[in-house]
Amino acid sequence: MLRRLHKDQPASFEFTPANLEWAKAQITKYPEGRQASAIIPLLWRAQEQHGWLTRPAIEYVANMLGMAYIRALEVATFYFMFQLQPVGSVAHIQICGTTSCMICGAEELIAVCQELISKQPHTLSADGKFSWEEVECLGACANAPMAQIGKDYYEDLTADKLRDMIARFSKGEVPVPGPQNGRYASEPLTGLTSLKEFESGRRQYNASAQRAVDIGDSIKRIDGTEVPLSTPWLHQPEAPQAAERPTEPKPGAGRPADATGVTVQEAPAQSKAKPVSQDDPAPAGSMGAKPVGLAAPRGGKADDLKEIEGIGPALEKLCHELGIFHFDQIAGWTDSDIAWMDQNLKGFRGRVSRDKWVAQAKIIVTEGLEAFRIRAKTNDY
Ligand code: FES
Repeated sequence: MLRRLHKDQPASFEFTPANLEWAKAQITKYPEGRQASAIIPLLWRAQEQHGWLTRPAIEYVANMLGMAYIRALEVATFYFMFQLQPVGSVAHIQICGTTSCMICGAEELIAVCQELISKQPHTLSADGKFSWEEVECLGACANAPMAQIGKDYYEDLTADKLRDMIARFSKGEVPVPGPQNGRYASEPLTGLTSLKEFESGRRQYNASAQRAVDIGDSIKRIDGTEVPLSTPWLHQPEAPQAAERPTEPKPGAGRPADATGVTVQEAPAQSKAKPVSQDDPAPAGSMGAKPVGLAAPRGGKADDLKEIEGIGPALEKLCHELGIFHFDQIAGWTDSDIAWMDQNLKGFRGRVSRDKWVAQAKIIVTEGLEAFRIRAKTNDY
């Protein structure tokens, strides 16, 4: 389809102070003379700030990057991620209409959008909450038919599923992204036929859906004018504590854009205010309690925690920083300790449960390291 700038454009655009700082920090990631490389993140941030990408915003970003307007316009009009007209205040639904999805029912999904949102794509629903469009292959062909809604993929859809999801979005809920037919990822419908050993360590959702749940930012929020949407798979989201907010722009960190309610792209793994998803290994609604640590390893020598499957040098270092030096400490962890560790291992959330650290440590403590190594070869713990 033709991608054109919308006929009605605002008079001007400028980043909020916080977004401007963020944008400047993004530009510093590229060497002198290559600032134009920052165009996609800057256009994206402009879109998030305003809700859709306006001509003044494209020109503003082009000016920031020293680019000719036409160059910025080429990027903005090329990618479907950029919305060149107003979109629904709750969600813009992008239905993949390419071969696999078309064969598997994309036309039925489009019919639902036409019925519930608007006959024509790129047109707001009567209540202004939704808009839709057909897009080219989104790369999830094995889970056809599918749609991108907000920032996430909803796969293995049917007309009824999509209808139900739109109703839930409308009520302020956010269905969990990923396959909607019970599949974990893109394995055969009848289940895995190989690589079954990987089943043991998996979390509740596949990596992509799990990430979406952890971040909790599937659908956009415009300028803070929208009432924040509830995310039923998250527990009581709270504002990050002031002391935990970054004070300096941090290239690539993906931290909150500003106070307008726009994106949080990085899960604040160490934040006490981090919402806990229902799939987390921690007991529902519990962050657990920090396990008791030691000031220093007993006898001045720590155990080699890397013997535990799943602990590498980085995790061992994190453990040491928490005063965890010995197998018997891990072997003695309670559910509360595990829950806390799962939530607070920066960059490794959920690893304690997923990799069964406590069960492994107990074997090491009770049966010895040699016996454990033999059992570990077959994941016998
Ligand atoms: S054909 Fe729809 S995701 Fe590829």
